[in-house]
Amino acid sequence: MPLPYYLLYSLNLTPWHRNHVHQHFVETVARFREAGQAIDLGCGKGTDTKYLAQRGWDVVAIDMVPKATASAAAACKDTPRQPRIILGDVLKVEDLVPHYPYGLIIDNGCLFSLKLSQQYSVIGAISSWCKSGALLLRFGLFTEESLTQSVPERWHLVWVDAAKPRYRLPGDPMPTWSLWELQ
Ligand SMILES: C[S@@+](CC[C@H](N)C(=O)[O-])C[C@H]1O[C@@H](n2cnc3c(N)ncnc32)[C@H](O)[C@@H]1O
Repeated sequence: MPLPYYLLYSLNLTPWHRNHVHQHFVETVARFREAGQAIDLGCGKGTDTKYLAQRGWDVVAIDMVPKATASAAAACKDTPRQPRIILGDVLKVEDLVPHYPYGLIIDNGCLFSLKLSQQYSVIGAISSWCKSGALLLRFGLFTEESLTQSVPERWHLVWVDAAKPRYRLPGDPMPTWSLWELQ
């Protein structure tokens, strides 16, 4: 079932929101010698977008909830490089965002709530514009199967960091970070 993001934002219920970026995000950005082009899928209130824009990245950020994009724009108002913040559905990414050769794709909690085939086609569309060596950083609730089935084969898994609770039913999705590199 899709998460009711419009309702959650209208009630100011955004428990995923942090004003600081995650360590995996920091380490992924540090892999690049210089800033490039990045896309932030489901940018929320723009914490990751702002971090990149402050470091000279050319960022395209997309979210379907107006309250999210308005907050992201406000968060980034003083960054040296202004990100392009787009209101829209990532399922229409091909029509909505510039077809840049993104070096970094951020999916911090957005795509996992879509069907596997939809995740696969959004990532597939963006990767068709990217060069080999591009990185994809993902966070979401995944099983091992759903994680691998949702990413096109051209992406090689660099590492995965999944929560390991003491009690877990087989097939339960777990909070999972993963980093992928385009072949
Ligand atoms: C869990 S929040 C994470 C927000 C942000 N990435 C962060 O780390 O704070 C997921 C975000 O993805 C957005 N989202 C979910 N499905 C989307 C879709 N189909 N198109 C665009 N945005 C979407 C939601 O509105 C929400 O802001």
